[in-house]
Amino acid sequence: MRPWMPLASRSRWRTNINRAALRAWYAANRRDMPWRRTRDPYSVWVSEVMLQQTQVATVLPYYERWMSRFPSFDVFAGSDEQQALAVWQGLGYYRRCRMLLEGARWVMANGVPSSAAGWLQVPGVGRYTAAAIASICFNEASAVVDGNVERVFARFTGCSLSGSALNRAAWKWAPGQIPAEQPGDWNQAMMELGARVCTPRTPKCPACPLQCDCVAFNTGRVPELPVVVPRSKAIAIEGHAFVEIGAGRVRLEQIPDGEWSQGMWRLPACAAGASRQIGTVKHTVTRHRVELRVHLIESAKGRVRELRANCGSGRWVSLEDIEEIPMPAPQRRALAMAMEALQD
Ligand code: ADE
Repeated sequence: MRPWMPLASRSRWRTNINRAALRAWYAANRRDMPWRRTRDPYSVWVSEVMLQQTQVATVLPYYERWMSRFPSFDVFAGSDEQQALAVWQGLGYYRRCRMLLEGARWVMANGVPSSAAGWLQVPGVGRYTAAAIASICFNEASAVVDGNVERVFARFTGCSLSGSALNRAAWKWAPGQIPAEQPGDWNQAMMELGARVCTPRTPKCPACPLQCDCVAFNTGRVPELPVVVPRSKAIAIEGHAFVEIGAGRVRLEQIPDGEWSQGMWRLPACAAGASRQIGTVKHTVTRHRVELRVHLIESAKGRVRELRANCGSGRWVSLEDIEEIPMPAPQRRALAMAMEALQD
């Protein structure tokens, strides 16, 4: 038995990681990121939530902007949802932002938890985020499993499970691997290995510090692991965005509760007046492939309309203030398309 092998692993996947090898690899290869320079729970929490479903390169500018605008629990909890969404806009999955705000208010009322169990009490915080914060900020040996760790687990142990069974197996295996010393670095090393070496396609096995113990590598099964469940077919959705511009303003409506991106603002999806279609904005949200048809309301062209502060459920917004209004990215692209068409 290897010296790093835990005495009692609850996992049936018995292969254990050579801790010294992974640590040495991480020390030499860790990328410098702003959230890796701190152990402040607020900063780590924000980064971990932003990094869910989003790549590091995309997150970086958002994180910097967010931290300069909302540097602490206190400042953030005192903001309102529209201000928060305005900074978050473009990152997508806006529920994360709303839950972050609810969580910050909870922390201001109840104090900053200092364990994974405590963080699980915070609204919107699941076991991944709770374990990440507890290990990075409070040195608790709570293991995280994200998509990267799951892939490392499947290949390293030769686990042929897929979907939620694979995920459950990885969550059972990971606590047997994490060491008591520097558990935060350990978790980040596992995720980093999955992101940089044990990648979904063309993994860089020759550069892997775990290669000699990796079951998939030793049995030639790297290309077939992890077993991928075929994705269910994309659902095509057609939407419409009507752009009505007059006197330097555009008409927007707030997305109602219960709809995707609720609370943000969008172009109206229908209009009474004459309009012409100027193009299509395509985007994908989870399994939905949306084609947003963009229409320009003709009456707006060149003619100053009589504007009312409120119009039905909508609101006229000055184009000068438009950056401050939280809008989903495809809606913003639709508006940009219309502005360009108006200049022709
Ligand atoms: N993915 C999410 N959080 C991460 C972290 N702290 N390090 C590496 N990858 C991550």
